Amino acid sequence: MGMILKNEELIKDIFMLEIEGKYEGKAGQFYMIKVDNTPYPLLSRPVSIFEITSNSIKFLYKVVGEGTKILSEKKKGDSISIRGPYGNGFPPVKGKVALVGGGMGAAPLYETAKQLMPDPEVNVVDLYLGFSHEIILEDSWRKVCSSFFYDIGGIITDYVDVSKYDVILSCGPDIMMKKLSELGKKAGVPVYVSIESHMACGIGACLACSCQTKYGNKKVCKDGPVFLGEDIYDV
Ligand SMILES: Cc1cc2nc3c(=O)[nH]c(=O)nc-3n(C[C@H](O)[C@H](O)[C@H](O)COP(=O)(O)OP(=O)(O)OC[C@H]3O[C@@H](n4cnc5c(N)ncnc54)[C@H](O)[C@@H]3O)c2cc1C
Ligand code: FES
Repeated sequence: MGMILKNEELIKDIFMLEIEGKYEGKAGQFYMIKVDNTPYPLLSRPVSIFEITSNSIKFLYKVVGEGTKILSEKKKGDSISIRGPYGNGFPPVKGKVALVGGGMGAAPLYETAKQLMPDPEVNVVDLYLGFSHEIILEDSWRKVCSSFFYDIGGIITDYVDVSKYDVILSCGPDIMMKKLSELGKKAGVPVYVSIESHMACGIGACLACSCQTKYGNKKVCKDGPVFLGEDIYDV
């Protein structure tokens, strides 16, 4: 159990949750957040690590259904149960790296950029984010990357010259990640995608999160959520 330090609505339906404690996690991993102590919703919800600080962990989440609605009603001082970190996270990378996020896919890219920037094997961390209605946390994104590009209501992949990079890490709508995977394949640049699925256990025990890949069915919670784009999409 952790204590909530903050659960603040940044813009309509988008919240930043901060929980006190010492937490661990690699870029691109997630935690299972149990939204209530009542029997319903029975299951925890997967949410990516937004940031790990010395005494807390933060999650950026959008209210889309019952579970996230209940979560949004939690207050500072309430206790909450979270477990993790789970999933493989983004792989180690080198050279020039582009991080590309669409919508709530921006969430895991903050900690990812923070972890990559001081890495001596990484020369550039460019961050591209597409928002549907308005930008959030603009100053924060700028501080954790080499260059920051964003778009509101458009197509963020239009801004990314994939061939300029050694590797692309992405999270967002399938259409965006498929497009990047296509561009990456053409340019010979690996594109890693963090995919979403409904989850129940989060630890590989229930098959709720099964997804099709070039190498057969995989579990998003355990084998993913990060995969090579060309293994997931038909590109
Ligand atoms: C590995 C992983 C990491 C994730 N990280 C984040 C994160 O950092 N921030 C975040 O906001 N979300 C994240 N998600 C998505 C998040 O888990 C879901 O939004 C959440 O489980 C929805 O729970 P709910 O009970 O509110 O909605 P449900 O009651 O389960 O669903 C309500 C309705 O919303 C639809 N729905 C469910 N999920 C989404 C979605 N993501 N977008 C739009 N519609 C949806 C459902 O199909 C359903 O119609 C992540 C998911 C995965 C698998
Ligand atoms: S959520 Fe249970 S196997 Fe992935």
